[in-house]
Amino acid sequence: IDEIKKLVSDENGIIDARIYNDEALYELELERVFARSWILLGHESHVPNTGDFLNTYIGEDPVILVRQKDASLRVFLNQCHHRGMKLSRDDAGNAKAFVCTYHGWAHDISGQLIDIPFEKEGHCEPLDKSKWSPLQARVETYRGLIFANWDEQAPSLDKYLSDSKPYIDVMFNRTEAGTEAIGGIQKWVIPTNWKFAAEQFCSDMYHAATMSHLSGFTAGLPEHMDLNDIDIPAQGNQFRAKWGGHGTGYYVDQPFLLQGVMGPVITEYMTTSPQAEVASKRLGPMFGQHVIGQHMTIFPTCSFLPGINTIRTWHPRGPNEIEVWAFIVVDADAPDHIKEEFRKQNIRTFSAGGVFEQDDGENWIEVQKLFRGNKARKTKLNVQMGLGNSTTDHPDFPGRISGVYSEDAARGMYQHWLRMMTELSWDTLKP
Ligand code: FES
Repeated sequence: IDEIKKLVSDENGIIDARIYNDEALYELELERVFARSWILLGHESHVPNTGDFLNTYIGEDPVILVRQKDASLRVFLNQCHHRGMKLSRDDAGNAKAFVCTYHGWAHDISGQLIDIPFEKEGHCEPLDKSKWSPLQARVETYRGLIFANWDEQAPSLDKYLSDSKPYIDVMFNRTEAGTEAIGGIQKWVIPTNWKFAAEQFCSDMYHAATMSHLSGFTAGLPEHMDLNDIDIPAQGNQFRAKWGGHGTGYYVDQPFLLQGVMGPVITEYMTTSPQAEVASKRLGPMFGQHVIGQHMTIFPTCSFLPGINTIRTWHPRGPNEIEVWAFIVVDADAPDHIKEEFRKQNIRTFSAGGVFEQDDGENWIEVQKLFRGNKARKTKLNVQMGLGNSTTDHPDFPGRISGVYSEDAARGMYQHWLRMMTELSWDTLKP
């Protein structure tokens, strides 16, 4: 634990690159971060009816998310207690039961083992099936998003999200009707560490305004304009959660980012349409209309872009690889042509083949490749933007606020990661 504590310094803004590439640290992360945190599994509209299920992951553990008869949700380990086979091998569907394909142990949709073939013939006494049912996770929702957590002692999702909720609501609570997921879940692999992706969505507006996405913005500009015609703004903020490692950044009254990525139809819908007025009344003018172009991460691996409306989980696959599981949400009562525009623009920009997604992936892959070097894998990295430059009493924005080009939320994310890795009891870890 003492050695891990030397890897991250919140006060000095220095992190050791080993947190991105060390195999032993990764194994500890699976136990101390992923088995104790709230992990995004999907959206309520993915499983609307009794028996609807989605196969996904908490960390590297496969889990089944299932809608129950009473409309509640269950999440349990997708593993049979007999010889460890998967109970369900489909991506998603509707089931009346989950029957293991190896020897046929059958489970109901709540995950209870209910039938064992040849039980009477094979066992002197009936097996206590309740003891041989798969492990259940806690499952809680916020604004249609479904999260699960293995840890009985962890704080509730509500406490976990805490002061982050107003910033999440910018995307998920614009209208009484809430949101719905459209299209399928896109899945792809990137050879990078999960923290690069999570940190960028948590804290990094910098890359978008400086280098990484400028070619994408240029390609999307009207013919008569080039980059020299654009005054890239610095008007906006970054939020760092007081607890939990969550973060977001956003422009205020500057549609630069949204216009450049999503084009005029979505920008108008988000800023000046009648639906934007509704959001303004519901969330207040600042959160409903003036916060434009936002990135956000709920620690550890739930990230989304309000206004662009992609949301994803960065499922870890070892220290050097992630599976991205991404889907699109829209206001449930948005006009059909707006839903279709969100779908099209997402596919063009932030999807497996999206132009902006390629920019991000290339950066993360190239950095991860460098970590094969004996010296490069131990480099001290500078995360110092905005050090000593935050406030907790901003008149409009709750939480800890710094400038839009800051790294305070990144430091918050790594500080929470450090605490999860080194504090084994919720007595000290709790909010
Ligand atoms: Fe599932 Fe044997 S492994 S029934």
